[in-house]
Amino acid sequence: MTTTAHDPGAPSAGNPGRADIRARTLRRDRWWLPPLVNALGLMTFVVYATIRSFWGSAYYVPEYHYLSPFYSPCFSASCVPGASHFGTFLPEFPPWIPLALLSLPFLLGFRLTCYYYRKSYYRAFWASPPACAVAEPHSKYTGETRFPLILQNAHRYFFYVAFAISILNTYDMLLAFRSTDPATGVTSFGLGLGTLILLINVIGLWLYTLSCHSCRHITGGRLKHFSKHPVRYKIWTGLSRINTRHMLFAWLTIGTLILADLYVMLVASGTISDLRIVN
Ligand code: FES
Repeated sequence: MTTTAHDPGAPSAGNPGRADIRARTLRRDRWWLPPLVNALGLMTFVVYATIRSFWGSAYYVPEYHYLSPFYSPCFSASCVPGASHFGTFLPEFPPWIPLALLSLPFLLGFRLTCYYYRKSYYRAFWASPPACAVAEPHSKYTGETRFPLILQNAHRYFFYVAFAISILNTYDMLLAFRSTDPATGVTSFGLGLGTLILLINVIGLWLYTLSCHSCRHITGGRLKHFSKHPVRYKIWTGLSRINTRHMLFAWLTIGTLILADLYVMLVASGTISDLRIVN
């Protein structure tokens, strides 16, 4: 019987199903490097996102309408004036509650249950397995068939919410194409480096969201005959193309999210001035 490292009961060091090889792996390359880099990258993002989500200030630039993605949508009465693009129907929050309370848990859930990130953090943090052809240290493998990992199956539902949040992020980004003169209060078209950074971030978010495996399945899955569903087939074909780059978009958006938030923070706090191209 052929087994892989992802099969329940797959061979691992000490597992009787494994070929009788004493060494943990016969690989001589630096197989440990990708999981190490992944662990560092993921930890950097988690630490940064957590700190910034609880920071509670320097997330909005009223003059240029820049809103940090970590604070969108901002529905609380605690949000600074102008940052609530969709109203403030929630009361004031104490400082220990993130202002994007309604979106952050879903975005976190979306990334945590993402097929690519699962592979990445299973390897990086649980060594399950650490790399191809390297035995994992665990003697038993139950897969995602029981609690808590069975919750990974909720990914599709997180996708629906993340899709809606991407629309809100897009709206935030479009508002950043305006600038308001603080002296007169007149708002007109404006374009700055911040606008471009927010635009790149939103493009990245859409690429990541639409290249999601669940999205691909929602559009083209469970069909018996593609010929009877030409529109869905076309969409599925397009999504399948970007789906092959899902890992790239997963990492790209980690970078663009940090960049977008950092830039807004620096401008909002007065540390730097926005580089204006128009107005
Ligand atoms: S977001 Fe990665 S698989 Fe859905």
